[in-house]
Order: sequence, then structure tokens, then C-alpha cells
Amino acid sequence: MRFHLGVGLTALVGLTSAVSVSKREAGQGTEELVFKHITSPVSHTANVDACNGYSMSDVSTSDHGLTATLQLIGEPCNAYGNDIETLTLKVGYETEDRLHVTIADTEGKQYQVPEDVVQRPKHSRVEKGKAKLRFEFQEQPFSFRVLRVEDEEVLFDTQDSKLIFEDQYLHLATKIPEDANLYGLGQHNDAFKLATNNYTRTLWNRDAFGIPPGSNVYGSHPIYQEHRRSSSSGNYLTHGVALLNSHGMKVDVDDGKLSYNVLGGVLDLYFFAGPKPSRITEQLHEVVGLPVTPPYWGLGLHQCRYGSGDWIEIAQTIANYSEAGIPLETQWTDIDYMDRRAIFSTSPSLYPRQLLKQVIDVLHHNNQHYVVMVDPATAVRDYGAYDRGNDLDVFLKRHDGSGAVHQNVVWPGRAAYPDWFHPNTSQWWVDEFKTFFNKDTGVDIDALWIDMNEPAGFLPYVEANPDRIAQEQDAPPRPPTTRASPYEVPGFPATSPKTKRAGGWAFVNEKLLNGDGSINHDGVSSNLSDFTARTDLTHYGGIREYAVHNLYGLMMSKASREAMLARRPNKKALILTRSTFLGSGRYTSHWHGDNLSTWDHYRWAIRLMLGYSIYGMPMNGGDICGFGGNTTETLCARWAMAAILHPFYRNHNNIDGRPQEFYRWNLTTQAAKRAMDIRYRLLDAYYTAFHHAQTKGTPVVQPLFWNFGQDVETFGVETQYMAMDKILVSPVTDENSTSVHMYLPKDTQWYKFDSWTPVQGQGWTDIENVDYDEVPMHLIGGSILPLRNESAMTTKDVRQKDFVIIVAPDDEGQAKGDLYIDDGESEEVGEQFTYIEMHFNGHHLVVQDDGHYDAAYPVKVDRILFLNQTKQRQVIGTDGAETNYDEESKVLTVTLQSELRPGTRIELQ
Ligand code: NOJ
Repeated sequence: MRFHLGVGLTALVGLTSAVSVSKREAGQGTEELVFKHITSPVSHTANVDACNGYSMSDVSTSDHGLTATLQLIGEPCNAYGNDIETLTLKVGYETEDRLHVTIADTEGKQYQVPEDVVQRPKHSRVEKGKAKLRFEFQEQPFSFRVLRVEDEEVLFDTQDSKLIFEDQYLHLATKIPEDANLYGLGQHNDAFKLATNNYTRTLWNRDAFGIPPGSNVYGSHPIYQEHRRSSSSGNYLTHGVALLNSHGMKVDVDDGKLSYNVLGGVLDLYFFAGPKPSRITEQLHEVVGLPVTPPYWGLGLHQCRYGSGDWIEIAQTIANYSEAGIPLETQWTDIDYMDRRAIFSTSPSLYPRQLLKQVIDVLHHNNQHYVVMVDPATAVRDYGAYDRGNDLDVFLKRHDGSGAVHQNVVWPGRAAYPDWFHPNTSQWWVDEFKTFFNKDTGVDIDALWIDMNEPAGFLPYVEANPDRIAQEQDAPPRPPTTRASPYEVPGFPATSPKTKRAGGWAFVNEKLLNGDGSINHDGVSSNLSDFTARTDLTHYGGIREYAVHNLYGLMMSKASREAMLARRPNKKALILTRSTFLGSGRYTSHWHGDNLSTWDHYRWAIRLMLGYSIYGMPMNGGDICGFGGNTTETLCARWAMAAILHPFYRNHNNIDGRPQEFYRWNLTTQAAKRAMDIRYRLLDAYYTAFHHAQTKGTPVVQPLFWNFGQDVETFGVETQYMAMDKILVSPVTDENSTSVHMYLPKDTQWYKFDSWTPVQGQGWTDIENVDYDEVPMHLIGGSILPLRNESAMTTKDVRQKDFVIIVAPDDEGQAKGDLYIDDGESEEVGEQFTYIEMHFNGHHLVVQDDGHYDAAYPVKVDRILFLNQTKQRQVIGTDGAETNYDEESKVLTVTLQSELRPGTRIELQ
């Protein structure tokens, strides 16, 4: 083996020129060219073994990276496309923790995700001597490795497989440990800790009713984290790898190897040094931008149901929640409000504008909120939104060059898809929002829900043609539908035959339509073009849908954020999208899509949520009580409790399922009340966690192993989760059970929530008699947790309550925590916020001097609870504070009734 220390030893060559990979203007000028060569017929061998790889030459190195040329060795193998003869390799040490490697065709014809879609840091570089990762290469055949400097661990190594770089096929493989602890590569509903044998992850966004495990679903996040035992130190450390490529792909994991098989584009790889998993998410955000975070009220309880008949039903739901004493924060309306399901319209009979306005006014008057759905598919009928869009030329055109608008059938019947690449589209979207969602004359929403943006269509591509679509009538005003799945459209065959091919890359991409099978796309049919926009449609600028399909939801998210901010400048825009891609977190939040009302889905909600801590979308959650099918009283009650600290908390279900608002059963009423009582008291702690997400990209929920990275027992735990790195939630997992088999890491001090009694972690632990309005929760020792002393019916009222500060010492008697408060809804708050950090060393509770205190956001403390105290203690430093010691719970309560400002110091004697 002959590896060169890529930048290390030859650094003094000191070439100052183009070594920064970020200099390549991604995507620029390439669109026109991208598909010309692809559409020409090619003869394929499908024989990857005949591919010889590349040889490396013209290596030029600098202090910050290297560039080189890669030349195809021997004859092209043309396995699934045309081999590209000359490639350029660029390696950049961008930060201490991040290494960037791109392998692209030298001519720049291959499609690359544009900077204005997924931003990347410009001119970021660090001297190689400071970098925690190191790039090494072998010239002939070309291969490379990425090592962690600290322990010389080889994290990525392509030596055992040859690079294949064709116009429609890229292949790169790395060795990984056979039993690797691998996470990510979502969106998926597979085990959180991925299988490592005979396992394939396909990334091709699709409308995936039921979020089936083993399948590609709504979003694509080609990033993984690997948690590996260092061969030198024996410690487990985590690193991350992201491939920024929007083409369909499958990632195979088998037999100590992870291989990327991509339908085109370039290899744009980011390596993240971690070594803590949450650091990798922060490092990802340094590349794709920091995530948006919700307004304070967005953390409250949301209610929705597809099939809410009319405005009266909505009004009734709101009233019923209030009557039941369950604090409903936000009422949502699905496509039901639309006039025959056309976006930017309201049904004149079912949701008359004036009456809907009255409902919204009442909600606002009561400090509650309102949200509706908007789909991308725009009804092709004689109405304003479509006409204006058409005049501006914003819709995708047919593949046949006729210039006619491409149509499929979606909720309104025949529908057109906006082309988000067209320069007019975002202005059209902004204008439609300004008018339709006008505060005074329109539907005055507080947040937005965007759906069906994979984009989804109900027809397979062969039927998405003018003749066939002409037979489709506009949808009836009130869908009497009993569709089991969104794919069944009256008058059309239920599904196309499923022609999925067994294993491997067994399909030739001769036509753009036929990328399928080769990436194991698991749609209703396996054809990439079915039930979505055809892959041979051309976006503005000559970009084929084939290359940017996975970006559709992200692009809609970006335009929607712009539209929401134009409507309400400087107000945090809460937007929930279904389809996502790497970087979506910068614009939107996410709900997981169409889960089902089953106990499996109840359990899987946690792993789906944890995935988004890797993908960088902190505000996310699944439909509570399940979307499809019929929930039950006990399932829904358990779900209300289990999701208690899921960042996004919404009950939503399908039109043909049994209604499931929490007030419908006794157990669910009790559970929702109890869950909200706890959750609402924790909202400021949660909002503080979101503050860290917004400023540093820190995830707000964590799998257990993120905090116990050396404890192998935690690596596969996916039915428990931690919130804010502090509170472990361990729900009951099975029907009819009242016990929990949970893992409480050893040698760690925990406290039962909220009796606050101390518990030493014993590993696997059984908890019995867990009622339907309970969920085991443990606060980790070492934390200081601010709680409001009471809950309320709205989040606005919660904010008026005083705080209780919980000081939960670790084994050494120490604890720390923080609290951030602002107005809860502005994007930019300037100096108008309060931030305090608190430390407890066993004797003193100190509020650090260097905080920031705005009297408009006071930290009024009713009492401080010092946990795990062995005796009554006196307090010095506070006037009139009273103490009370409870021997049984070992809680020392100091009733303070004053403010905690920077510099406050409280001494226990
Ligand atoms: C599909 C979405 O996933 C679901 O949440 C919604 O209710 C339906 N579309 C109808 O809009």
C-alpha cells in the first residue's frame, strides 16, 4: 500500500492558487449541458468489474488542501452511463473539524447542487496542521483515505474498490467496521442503528403512505454518523460523512463496506470530525446553514384532522378542547378549507371567508393560533392563482417540447407543478401569499403547512398525459372519498404493477425515465417517474427533474419561507414541510408524514424523530395517535404521553380514520392534560434548547447513546429518548402493558420527574404500574432545570408564571444549566433578551456575571429545589428566603420569590 500524506509533507510547495474547493461555483453554467449527453443513446455493459478506475496526476498541494487530475485508466467500462475521462479532485481543509473532498468532471457538465439552494460556506479554510482530519491518497489506481489525526484511525478508505464516474452513475465505496455503529442516511423508518449486512438505503423522495420500513420515503439526507471504537485509545468517538448530491441514490452497506451508487452529478463529500454526535450536527449546520426554530407558541399543542367537514366542525373542535380543559394552542385545517381543493381558495359553502375569519379572530383573541395547508400542485382550472402563475410561466412544461403545462392528478384533479427554479416562481408565490393570507382581508394564518412536495402525483407517468387527464373531472366539492391510500384515484387503476428488480444495480439508465430499479426505489411502482413529476421534465435553465427531484420540497420550503417572511417580516416563520433534503432545516420544520395508528408506528415515532437530530431539523415530530387507520383509546393515550417532549406535538389523522381529538375519550383527555401540564412547564427550557439550535445548530432531542457514548448498551436504544440533553423519556412500548423495560445508564445519578427523588442508574430496569396518564421521565444529575411553577391553557399565559429552579447535582454534587427568554416570536431580537447561566458546586448556586438581563423578560423565581440533599441547610445571600427540607424525597426547597439576575449568588450552609 502506498499512501501519500496528501497535504502534510508536501505543504511547503505552497501553491496559493485554487485549492479552496469552495471556489467552484456550484452548478454555475452547467445546466444547459447536463443532460445533452445523457439523452444520447449509450451502450452499457452493466459490468462494473470491467471498470479500471482512475490514475492521479498534476497534484498540487498547499497549506489548506490540494487539487489533482484523475484520468480514466484504460478503456471505458460504460457500466450504466458513459465514463467520464477526466476528473478534478479538490481537497480542502475548511475548518479544524471539516474536510471537504470533491471529485467532479473537469468540464463541469455534471449537475451540482447550486449554492443558492443549499448554501455552503465561502472561503472557509484552515491550515492543515490545525485540522483534526487528514486526507491521504494513492495515485494508481486512485483511492483515498481520511484519518483522524488524534488517534490515526482510518475513518474512510476507498482502496478496496475502484472509483466509477459516469454521466449517470457514480460509485464510491469505503471500508467500515463489519459491525459498525451506523446512523442516518434518512429519511427512513428503519432501525435507528442501521443494519450492516445486506442493507440498502435508497434516497429518492416519494409520497410514502404508511412510512414503510425498508423503503425510500419523503426526504433525502445523505449523511451518516459512525460511532467507532478507536483502535488506539479504546474510546468510542463519532465522525460524520455527508454527500451533497441531489440525484437518486442507493447506499449499500454490506460485509464491512459502505458504497454510494448515485444516478449522476458529482461526488461532493464533507467529512466531520465530531467527535461527539451532536457536534457533527453542528458541523453539518456550518455547511448548510443554521436551522430555523419555532416561535414559543409553536411548542404548544397542535390539533388537525384531514376531513374536517366545514368551519363549524373546526369551531366545534376548538370549543371541545376548551370544554375538556385541554390546552389547545393551535388549530390546523387540511385541504378541506379549499374550494374543490385548489390552493389559494376557500370553499364558499363549507369555509365561507367571513365565517372562517370569525373563527380565526376568536382563536387570536384567545391567544391561540391557526394554520392551513398549501400544496404545490396548482389546480388547472379557470381561477386566479393558476392564471397568474401561467401568465408568469411558472409551471413545469411537458417533456415533449410542446410547451404545454405538464399535468398530473393531485387533490384538485388536474394540477400543474410550480417550477421553483424559474425566476418568477418565488415572486408569484410571495404575491399569492400576500393576498390570500392577508391579515385583514384573507386567511390570517400564524404558520404554514406544505405537503405533497416530493412532488406527489396520483398517476403513474404513462397515464399523466393530456388524454388520460382530460377524463378526470374536477374533484367534487366535498370528497366522499374512502381512499385507502392517496394513490387510488377514481377511474384510474389502483396501482401500477410493481416491477421492482431484485438486488444490485441491475438496470440500464438508457432513458431518463428509467432510472428505476437500479436504486431500489420502492414506490407503488419502482419507476422513478411514477406518481411524481416525470424525470425528463425540464426546469428553467435546462435542469432536468432527474437531477433535482430530491430538491423539490426544499425549494418549495425556501420559497414558502420567503413568502411567510414577506407577509410578517421578522416573525419566526413556523413552516412544516413533508419533503426535505440536506439543508431543509434552514427554511423549515418537518412532520414525519403519513404514519399509521398502530403500536409499531407508536414505537417508530421515536426513531424517526431522532433521525432529524442527525439531519439538522430540530423541530419535528410525527402525527400523534397515528394518521392512517383507526386509533384506539389506549394507543392514543399512550402516544399523548410518549410524545410529551417531541419537539413538534400535533394530533392529526386521516379522513377515513376514526376522529381522534384528545377530548374524545377519558383516557386521552387525562393523558393530554397531564402531558401538557408537564410540557408547558418545561417550555422555557425547551425554548432555551432551541436557542442553542438556532445559534449553534445543537440538536434538541438526542438518542441515549449521544450522552453515554462509551456504554455499548445504549447504542441501539430507540424506544427511549433524551430531550435537551437532560430528560430521559422512557414510554411504555406495548399494548395492554403497564410496565417499561428501560435502560438507565449505570454509574449515573438520575432523578425521578417530578417527585425529584434520586435514583442511581442500574442499567436495564423495569418500571411497573405505569398508568395511561404517566410516562417515566428522569432528569440527569448535573443539570439545573428551569420550570414554570404552573401550567396554563395557552403558552402566552404560561409565560406569565414564576419559575421553579431544579438543581439536580451529579455524583460530585455539581450542576449547571441556563435559561434564555425573549419575546418568543421575533427572528431578530437585538438586545431584547435574557440569558443566564447557573452553576452549583454543592455549596453555592451562582448566576454567572456575564449573562444578559432584560427586565422585560425577568427570571422571577418562586422557589429553588436543591435535590439529593442529606439534611436541612440554611441559605445565605437572600433576604427572607425560607427553607424546607423533605427527608423522604431529599429535596431542600428554598422559597425565594425574587429575581435571578446575573451575579446572584446563593449559599447553602
Ligand atoms: C398527505 C399528508 O401527508 C397528510 O398529512 C394530509 O392530511 C393529506 N395529504 C391531505 O392533505
